[in-house]
Amino acid sequence: MFAAYARRLSPEDPLAGLGLGERPDPEKRDGWVTVRLRASALNHHDLWSLRGVGLREEQLPMVLGCDGAGVDEDGNEVIVHAVIGDDDFRGDETMDPKRSLLSERYDGTLADLVSVPRRNLVPKPAELSWAEAACLPTAWLTAYRMLFTQSGGQPGSTVLVQGAGGGVSTALVALGRAAGYRMWVTSRDADKRDRAVSLGADAAFESGARLPERVDAVMETVGAATWDHSLKSLNQGGTIVVSGATGGSEAVSDLRRIFFFQLRVVGSTMGTRDELQRLVQLCLQTGVRPLVDATMPLEDARDGFSRLAGGDVFGKVVLIRPA
Ligand SMILES: NC(=O)c1ccc[n+]([C@@H]2O[C@H](COP(=O)([O-])OP(=O)(O)OC[C@H]3O[C@@H](n4cnc5c(N)ncnc54)[C@H](OP(=O)(O)O)[C@@H]3O)[C@@H](O)[C@H]2O)c1
Repeated sequence: MFAAYARRLSPEDPLAGLGLGERPDPEKRDGWVTVRLRASALNHHDLWSLRGVGLREEQLPMVLGCDGAGVDEDGNEVIVHAVIGDDDFRGDETMDPKRSLLSERYDGTLADLVSVPRRNLVPKPAELSWAEAACLPTAWLTAYRMLFTQSGGQPGSTVLVQGAGGGVSTALVALGRAAGYRMWVTSRDADKRDRAVSLGADAAFESGARLPERVDAVMETVGAATWDHSLKSLNQGGTIVVSGATGGSEAVSDLRRIFFFQLRVVGSTMGTRDELQRLVQLCLQTGVRPLVDATMPLEDARDGFSRLAGGDVFGKVVLIRPA
């Protein structure tokens, strides 16, 4: 099968280790099914993998990719849930200490074929295009859990999203808007601020700018570069939900602010299969759809990776496979 894979790891130059070419078809495993992919989407996770975060040299070559949608062995159109839990684990699989994400232990979705446990398949409704469906399992699922499971916010709450253009940020704005939250966004880039407002943000501010009032919750995927601003932007009793650190993970906190204002700092990772199913339903109910920045054939994945690495995207980059 054709695939985009990590052939070596380089913290400084992640694209140098990206391989594009033939890889063996997935192995047969009991209880697992093979999906012929029609679309896959890129995530920052794929760049982290090429940098050697969560992946070791001895695991290479490893097919990249967490997001995908395609057709299973019985001809069903499916969305692939990327969190692979242990067979014996019961409950919220994002809490399973033995869990992995596709492309961390098992080959991922940037390929013609991917194999996953049968329980990891979610039906793809006809109303979603292949590209839209492929965007949901990682950035959109992460945004869904941050906002609806972890933030403690309610429709009508004011939520600040740090960063505008990323896959998670655009998902947060679109989902929050659809669910009746007041969504505020920051970005370093004036054009991205305008685009965030077009997408549904109620206001967009320059990164680090003083806000007109404090917010109920902050959605953090940037990290060190915006952390102090996130703490200062919160109302008494407010919540920061953190799921990423694109701009550095060594953040300094003023602990006096955390205890005096009784702030909550909540970590969040991916989401459950049930949350993915509810996210799909939410898309159907509200008409909200993932924002696709660009689509291209999987063979051109290097262009997509370059755009992502350059911070040059607004929404998701989707890689298409022929029928
Ligand atoms: N825990 C999980 O399960 C999970 C799941 C998905 C993603 N993540 C993580 O979440 C992060 C975002 O993922 P993504 O796919 O949305 O990535 P992405 O598409 O590359 O987005 C990066 C975002 O970060 C902002 N940004 C980057 N550097 C910045 C800086 N120095 N200062 C201010 N803003 C900065 C950008 O905002 P502007 O350009 O608009 O300023 C952009 O919106 C990644 O680190 C990813 O690994 C974690």
